[in-house]
Amino acid sequence: MTTEPTAAGRRVVTLTANPSLDRTLDLPGPLERGTVARLGGSSTEPGGKGVNVARAIAAAGADVVSVLPAADDDPIVKALHALGLRLSTVPVQTPVRTNYTLTEPDGTTTKLNEPGARLDPVSLAALEGAVRAHALGARWVVLSGSLPPGAPLDWYATLVRSLRGTGARIAVDTSEAPLLALLAAGPDAAPDLLKPNTEELAQLAGVPEETLGADPDAAIAAVAGLHERGVAEVLLTLGGDGAVLSTADGGLWSARPPRTTVRSTVGAGDSSLAGYVLADLAGLDPAGRLQNAVAYGSASAALPGSAVPTPDQADLAGVAVTAGLPASPAPAEAAPAAGADAR
Ligand SMILES: Nc1ncnc2c1ncn2[C@@H]1O[C@H](COP(=O)(O)OP(=O)(O)OP(=O)(O)O)[C@@H](O)[C@H]1O
Ligand SMILES: [Mg+2]
Repeated sequence: MTTEPTAAGRRVVTLTANPSLDRTLDLPGPLERGTVARLGGSSTEPGGKGVNVARAIAAAGADVVSVLPAADDDPIVKALHALGLRLSTVPVQTPVRTNYTLTEPDGTTTKLNEPGARLDPVSLAALEGAVRAHALGARWVVLSGSLPPGAPLDWYATLVRSLRGTGARIAVDTSEAPLLALLAAGPDAAPDLLKPNTEELAQLAGVPEETLGADPDAAIAAVAGLHERGVAEVLLTLGGDGAVLSTADGGLWSARPPRTTVRSTVGAGDSSLAGYVLADLAGLDPAGRLQNAVAYGSASAALPGSAVPTPDQADLAGVAVTAGLPASPAPAEAAPAAGADAR
């Protein structure tokens, strides 16, 4: 463990249980299997969804600590320290994995992701303990990304239960089996905030993604199902269509993104979540939190790779927030349009 506690109450803790070094290799032409390629360039960045969230929060000057499994001499630790991030590391034997992105001149990208180091029960317990220690008195804990080999599929549910008594709000952004296991675990394991995209919401609702994309009412019904399972707030991000925020007490808001020249949407959702948390730290209401989330997501989409925005890059004025569904006209008084009867 490499940190000491700081002023609680406004602290954010992120967990990246399966971190990665993200290595981008620039190919001079189309990828040809079975040949030698002379790379045009290459770069390496520390990655993982929780790391991305922490970077965006730190870039806004807020107090954030990143919990991750990594040996002290692992290259990712050096890279994260170089970025000025405060870390709480649980030492593990295996080096942090590398994920490769092969980019071709026409923009085609091929991703090769290593599975990640297997964590034994002792390391998992140490990670849980580290998150819990930093969560005591913190405002938010953000649990993001895939689980490493060795972690039980319902580990996020275990963590939410374990963190409940700390007083911190708990946000989760994950997908597939760990997401399904979390929502199947019962209301005592439901996070305060869930950030699905439409693909993840479709996985939870057990319907094809196209169904939700084509029918906003179906998407809202799927979100209502999450509230029924105990989730207080759902930030549903819709890529270039912006995002929707739904609260368990019947609030529903939509936000369109600002005019954006897209360079890379990798990590845009992580920046959305960071924007939401930062707005909460600033005391903003739900509409303000949604507005900042969309401004941050779109600012990230305008940056290369998985770069995270600074507050001045987030175009708040360009984000239109309306009560209700994306298609519905904005009422003059911005009261939540969807009451409990709509769910
Ligand atoms: N094409 C786009 N134009 C403008 N903004 C975008 C675009 N794509 C994404 N965004 C912004 O980023 C936010 C998050 O995008 P998205 O729904 O794709 O997240 P995601 O699928 O969780 O991404 P990831 O998991 O890769 O970080 C959107 O709400 C929006 O603000
Ligand atoms: Mg996402």
